[in-house]
Amino acid sequence: MSGRKPLIAGNWKMHKTIKETLDLITGIKAGLQGNEAADVLVAPPFTALSAAAGAVQGSNILLAGQNLHQEPSGAYTGEVSGQMIRDTGATHVIIGHSERRQYFGETDGLVNLKTRAALAAGLIPIFCLGETLEEREAGRTFEVLARQLEGGLKEFSTAEAAKIIIAYEPVWAIGTGKTATNDQAQEVHYFLRDLLGKIFEKRLASDTRILYGGSVKPDNAADLLACPDVDGALVGGASLKADSFLGIIHFDR
Ligand code: PGA
Repeated sequence: MSGRKPLIAGNWKMHKTIKETLDLITGIKAGLQGNEAADVLVAPPFTALSAAAGAVQGSNILLAGQNLHQEPSGAYTGEVSGQMIRDTGATHVIIGHSERRQYFGETDGLVNLKTRAALAAGLIPIFCLGETLEEREAGRTFEVLARQLEGGLKEFSTAEAAKIIIAYEPVWAIGTGKTATNDQAQEVHYFLRDLLGKIFEKRLASDTRILYGGSVKPDNAADLLACPDVDGALVGGASLKADSFLGIIHFDR
């Protein structure tokens, strides 16, 4: 048995005003009693992070930003730095989500810089990677994932890499209702853990949490989380309502 405690993380994307954020956190808190099986995290939009930090007080809910700029400060209109995210009370930040890679042109090199910036600001990166349907069908899944992992963590020390949470999110499963089968998820998670062991150390590989993301719902969470190398979930759509998010958090019931 691994000592990795599952993490259930909600990625709210571009949803929720401040009031909606407070309501959703109140709903999640109310249903968390007795939850010991998993760590819980939510990633509201930047505009609601400070309010969320007030609302999670008295609970174990962790907070994350959804992105950050790679520079600590400067003339970058519209951008938000790691320090600013840390300042809200958030402890984590999502990096390299496929929507950022697809719609905002984020490359492995940029993901590498952002991951460094997160660590420098004292934030724990949730480092996302995943193949597209086209890449999977062309038999290139492992080649793409290796490129993303090696490129994103290029020249990281073992001590730095040890702080990172990985999230495998096959692009074809995000927001589509299509989930990877348990075998597909386990195969990739095993591959990523093995690769982490080769790039860094075996010990780091066995300690690193690797989350699965892509249409995780209350009715498939338990099966996915039963895979030996799946250490939690990064949840989009189903994290926007307290009931469905709690249904995933309580996957063990
Ligand atoms: P989904 O999104 O759960 O709506 O598929 C997952 C994600 O993008 O993190």
